[in-house]
Amino acid sequence: MEFAGRPTLIMKKTTQRMKGTEAQRFNILSACIIAELIRTTLGPHGFQKLIRDPVGDIIISQDGGTIMKNYDVRHPMAKIMDKLVRSMETEVGDGTKTAMILVGELLKKGQIELMDQGVHPSQIISGYQIAVKKVNEIAEKIALSIDPDDENTLLSLAKTCFTRKFLPELEQKFAEFALQTIKYIIEQKNGENIIDIKNNVNMITIHGGSIVETELIKGMAIKKDFVSPLMPKRIENAKIAVLEPSLELKTTKIKAKIRTKGLKQLKAFRDEDYNLLKEKADKVIQSGANVVFARREVHDKIAPYLINAGIIAAKWVRGWDMEKIAKATGAKVVKNLDFFTPDTLGEAGIVEEIKHGKEKVIYVRNCKNPKAVTIVIRGGIEHILYEIERKLSDALYVIKNAIENKKIVGGAGAFETELARQLRKYAIKFSGREQLSIQAYAKALEIIPHTLIENAGLNVLDGLAALRKKHEEDSDNSKWFGVDINSIKPINTFSAGILDSLKIKLAAINAATEVVNLILGIDDVIYGLPGEYEKTIEEEEAEEEYQRKLEEMEEYKMSMGKKTKK
Ligand SMILES: Nc1ncnc2c1ncn2[C@@H]1O[C@H](COP(=O)(O)OP(=O)(O)OP(=O)(O)O)[C@@H](O)[C@H]1O
Ligand SMILES: [Mg+2]
Repeated sequence: MEFAGRPTLIMKKTTQRMKGTEAQRFNILSACIIAELIRTTLGPHGFQKLIRDPVGDIIISQDGGTIMKNYDVRHPMAKIMDKLVRSMETEVGDGTKTAMILVGELLKKGQIELMDQGVHPSQIISGYQIAVKKVNEIAEKIALSIDPDDENTLLSLAKTCFTRKFLPELEQKFAEFALQTIKYIIEQKNGENIIDIKNNVNMITIHGGSIVETELIKGMAIKKDFVSPLMPKRIENAKIAVLEPSLELKTTKIKAKIRTKGLKQLKAFRDEDYNLLKEKADKVIQSGANVVFARREVHDKIAPYLINAGIIAAKWVRGWDMEKIAKATGAKVVKNLDFFTPDTLGEAGIVEEIKHGKEKVIYVRNCKNPKAVTIVIRGGIEHILYEIERKLSDALYVIKNAIENKKIVGGAGAFETELARQLRKYAIKFSGREQLSIQAYAKALEIIPHTLIENAGLNVLDGLAALRKKHEEDSDNSKWFGVDINSIKPINTFSAGILDSLKIKLAAINAATEVVNLILGIDDVIYGLPGEYEKTIEEEEAEEEYQRKLEEMEEYKMSMGKKTKK
């Protein structure tokens, strides 16, 4: 660009730019590639992805969040998809792949059926906005209300999460764990059910043993051992102290040397130290505690006092574990030893240290009314442990969302098929390009049943046609027919117990539409090439001068007919 006859640089020379249709196609194609990569992992017959990270570790997973986390995210569209996944994970805890697949399909339909036919992206955006608003209305109308105490429905919701099938009896067991966990941690606030999974559920994985040994602990389990091997490994009727202050000598911030006049004075100093430690130990003993979880150090010299008094202790317990131990046992976190009274103690039936292979775990079991609990996942293969952890987490969030929102829908693509059917009818009310966009949106929703059929290895055309026909019956019952992964004949998802939470489904649809509208609204892609060094004009001139001199020298050498050394 020139300004007043002088060349003006707005962007770096190494920066590249793509504009208009080219930019839009580039973005849409890139997002579609990521969605396509994820599509094969959806549902009970979804495949797993094997990802080798730069360090050489292998991750095998079917979980949307895990795949995106370990996918080497560099492309701007991959980054946007990654953000979508993170927001789904934090907001509703499940439905990440559904959201990504919908993004891909809405963009694909927007490109092929609309943009290529001359519909402007802004018209697509406004059509999609009308469509998503209607989808929310239809969804609220057709969703079924549930009683938060209806355990059978909650168990079906949890079991639908275990899309990669474990042994059937394990599926039942894990669904029961998830439900029981929620029952322990649920709280009532202003007449509403509040479930805080992040702060009240602890999950640990232990490499070794069998999946069957996975257990729900009515309390806490942390990977730690007691401070001294001389401490008993098990205590019953535990009185638990959760201590913030350290049980060691006070350290000063300044380094200082003390000169003593002889052994007597040295001994006095030592005695003073022992007295201080003993004072702290006495405070613990007087509180009546027989188990101590300390946030900080427990001095070696204090351990004998504790052992003599029959007290076991663990040190350097992480802050969030301290909070959960307190919630599980009813203890109050002690911030100052001067206020360490018996009423700050919590209770547990058993506290024990168990060694599993190389790992030591402290279990705080049989708490009376735990407000925080732990699921200990056992198994021989690391990636299976992690996969179970993810699935259990999905199951917890599905139950949470269903209880808090009290609304559920049929799974297996039934919900999306019904939304698409009603949306198509609604589209006719509009004319021109808006109608086309709403229809494209409806078609895009069907990518979910489409993918479930495809991943089950069934015929997509026949399967989708059968599903649409069933929904066209337009009866109360027909709207909940979905994909049977064993045949192309649709099944009643409510009778089959394939259920999803409305909140998660709508979160996926709404978030996907937002991302699609964001991508469609981009008409300029500006990107710098990483790692390329941009030379200054002076450096370029100096380089040219150097080259010129080299050439002159070569010419001179040739004219002299001599060969010079390099
Ligand atoms: N037995 C089943 N038959 C048919 N469809 C099923 C069955 N079980 C689950 N589904 C469907 O599978 C879909 C969920 O699959 P999946 O859990 O793999 O994806 P997601 O929830 O979008 O992603 P993620 O769990 O990784 O966050 C839902 O549409 C659900 O209804
Ligand atoms: Mg899921």
